[in-house]
Amino acid sequence: MKTRLFMMLAAVLLSIGAMAQSENNYALGNFDHVVTQPAPGGNTADGGPQAVSNIRSVAGVPLVRLNNGVMMPRFGLGTQVQSMENASMRQQLNETVRGMVIAALQSGYRHLDDAMFYYNERGTGWGIKESGIPREQIWVTSKISGNLADAQNAFNGMLQRLQVDYIDLVYIHHPAGTLQDILACWRVMEAEYKAGRIRALGISNFDNRMEAFNYIMDNAEIKPQMAQIECHPLAQRTDARELYANNYDIQVECWYPLNHNRTDPNNTTIQQIAQAHGRTVYQIILRWHMQEGLCPVPGSTNAAHIAENINIFDFELTDEEMAAIRAIDRGDAGRSFNLQYGNWGFGNFQDYNYNHTFTPAYLTGDVNFDGEINIGDVTGLIDFLLSDVRMAPVPADVNEDGETNIGDVTALIDILLRS
Ligand SMILES: NC(=O)c1ccc[n+]([C@@H]2O[C@H](COP(=O)([O-])OP(=O)(O)OC[C@H]3O[C@@H](n4cnc5c(N)ncnc54)[C@H](OP(=O)(O)O)[C@@H]3O)[C@@H](O)[C@H]2O)c1
Repeated sequence: MKTRLFMMLAAVLLSIGAMAQSENNYALGNFDHVVTQPAPGGNTADGGPQAVSNIRSVAGVPLVRLNNGVMMPRFGLGTQVQSMENASMRQQLNETVRGMVIAALQSGYRHLDDAMFYYNERGTGWGIKESGIPREQIWVTSKISGNLADAQNAFNGMLQRLQVDYIDLVYIHHPAGTLQDILACWRVMEAEYKAGRIRALGISNFDNRMEAFNYIMDNAEIKPQMAQIECHPLAQRTDARELYANNYDIQVECWYPLNHNRTDPNNTTIQQIAQAHGRTVYQIILRWHMQEGLCPVPGSTNAAHIAENINIFDFELTDEEMAAIRAIDRGDAGRSFNLQYGNWGFGNFQDYNYNHTFTPAYLTGDVNFDGEINIGDVTGLIDFLLSDVRMAPVPADVNEDGETNIGDVTALIDILLRS
């Protein structure tokens, strides 16, 4: 049986190899950046301990080389769940985010976008631990907010809540507060970068306060690798993208890549393109981001949506389709938030508890975290068992009859018995 299992796994690996090759046929452009910034961990010959990358392309997600030479997966999971941010819901929020993170990592995501003010870093940390994926293979982002003058404490708290000893990308979440406090926060980030506890530095929402952006660019010893902005087909942010990408070689990452689910799903342009490719509007929007050279971090609390959103690396939008989506841009009118930042703060961070009681998913039965026990849990379990060797999720439709049903379980057992 062992030999059979080995052969089966070898076959899975071979098919994965073939898949990875065919994925290269779908153009995502060459969005590598010019390396101008010192590597994290100091300017030593090998760039210091954290400059060594264990990040690999999984599930077809391309890597991008940032302006400090560090490689980052250019697609990730957004972990913010705004509907649960009320202080009384910390436990439920962190439990939910733990499930989202596990589902995402099992689906091939290797990039997680978090922030201290999402109040869910503890859930993310446990999700990473329980996913079975080594921490070094995951790109972990968090953001400092609140009292920027106290950034060192904020950063130490992030490490502790996430249960990690370095963070791949740290942003200043908002350019709120005095310019001096913003720069003081940046200095802490630079020191941690030099010490190898941060691998890339970022500015988030600085497109809404140019004086803060200019102040950082004028005074930073290590210039930003990343800029996070609101960006989606209804607010394509061409000015901000040009400023960052063309003038400063900074990689743009998009928050609300799906417009927080506010884009009309019946939008004729996107709907028609979705029909032409046999995909959902969500997949079309995310594929558009990828072909634009952007880094989207879609959020979802639904395991099926999480898997659907990353399943966009086996087709390509034509030039005409890309142009059609570009034409639905509404400029600033399409934005959800357009806050003007200034010398005001976001208040102080309130630490919280998360009473984590780990029950392995296979004991609860809800393996795929979709809130119910169904056939997807069986394929989810097989997916989980194969997670060490596979690079993409096992398809739920094992017998390829167009739907997920009990026939998939018997088909799978049949395959196992015959191997
Ligand atoms: N830097 C900043 O200031 C900032 C600000 C906002 C957000 N962010 C980041 O951006 C991330 C993404 O933002 P977001 O999650 O609010 O908005 P989003 O990714 O644009 O959209 C998420 C919404 O779309 C739905 N959705 C996702 N995939 C779907 C699918 N395949 N089918 C149907 N519905 C789908 C989700 O519902 P379900 O849960 O039902 O799937 C959810 O309601 C955040 O998590 C955070 O990391 C950063």
